[in-house]
Amino acid sequence: MTIRLHDPESRAFASDNYAGAHPEIIDAIVAANGGHQISYGEDAYTERLHEVFAGHFGDEVAVYPVFNGTGANVTALQSMIPRWGAVVASSSAHIHTDEGGAPERVAGIKLLTVDTPDGKLTPELIDRQAWGWGDEHRAQPLAVSITQTTELGTCYTVDELTAITEHAHSLGMRVHLDGARIANAAAHLDAPLRAFTTDAGIDVLSFGGTKNGLLFGEAVVVLNPDASDGLPYLRKLNMQLASKMRFISAQLIALLTDDLWLRSAQHSNAMAAKLRSALEDAITSGRAPGLAFTQNTESNGIFATLPRPAADRVRERFRFYDWGPTAGGSEQGDGDAPRARDEDAARTEVRWMCSWDTTDEDVAGFVAAIEAALQA
Ligand SMILES: Cc1ncc(COP(=O)(O)O)c(C=O)c1O
Repeated sequence: MTIRLHDPESRAFASDNYAGAHPEIIDAIVAANGGHQISYGEDAYTERLHEVFAGHFGDEVAVYPVFNGTGANVTALQSMIPRWGAVVASSSAHIHTDEGGAPERVAGIKLLTVDTPDGKLTPELIDRQAWGWGDEHRAQPLAVSITQTTELGTCYTVDELTAITEHAHSLGMRVHLDGARIANAAAHLDAPLRAFTTDAGIDVLSFGGTKNGLLFGEAVVVLNPDASDGLPYLRKLNMQLASKMRFISAQLIALLTDDLWLRSAQHSNAMAAKLRSALEDAITSGRAPGLAFTQNTESNGIFATLPRPAADRVRERFRFYDWGPTAGGSEQGDGDAPRARDEDAARTEVRWMCSWDTTDEDVAGFVAAIEAALQA
């Protein structure tokens, strides 16, 4: 019996998590089904996964599939620092705004946050929190966590990442990369994955799958074996060890084979670029009074401000979230709950996300809805 409880034609620009799983991923799950396989990661798929990740990130890597991004971040960071360690991160980082305090409560890690205008840390911004080593009264800053692409849709260049890792390492700090949207960064930079991770000095990576077409599944990827300890034990005690791991591994293999990861990310980035350019055109031609952009569009997300009544009218057809105070220090993230409202009741900052399955028609329909709402 087939049970369908939703309209398969419904579309939204709220989150890349709203999209379903890519058909090639579903095929991979079906192919991995049937018969018996050893549980907890000793299956044929997880064994192959190590080769697949080594092909993308280098022979030294170790990969640990997990259920979700919060679990990947918390487990990765916990493996990188001792009990007394602290992590420097942007105040708009998902680990700070949208993980329910899990880094603090599950891993016992103090986060030392810095406001950033565009979601990106720099060596100078890191220095605002990287001090006090040897002072027993201060949580010791021993790691930096950055997000690529950032929570504000921006993308670090390879040089910016290298400057961060060189600076952090010179201070004895390790560098974690939250790569929930790492594929969108590769698509934007037009660079292989290892060029801005392993080769740029990143120590441990949370590799994102779900936002790029997986049913569910991410991975902690240790790029520098000297920078992480105890991951197998931490993954289990953080409740991220899948018994039927073959199904996460099979999805990750499919994602990283035949360039599915890149094709999907290129597509979602291209849809965001198309949406942005159509709206810029509408602004120039006077069809979008009151619309302005707050961030560069360097991935699959667009950040904009518009009058609140117009935003609410568009939302009657397409869901999306309010985002919060413009640029930096955002209290919002990527969960499914409606976002908190901007201080200014008349205008709102919003986030519009494209996905691997966003179509030209979706973009055209959304642009028309925005123009109509702004002109009403
Ligand atoms: C930057 C970032 N990191 C991590 C995650 C993973 O979160 P989840 O635990 O919901 O999979 C998300 C998802 O919203 C995200 O946007």
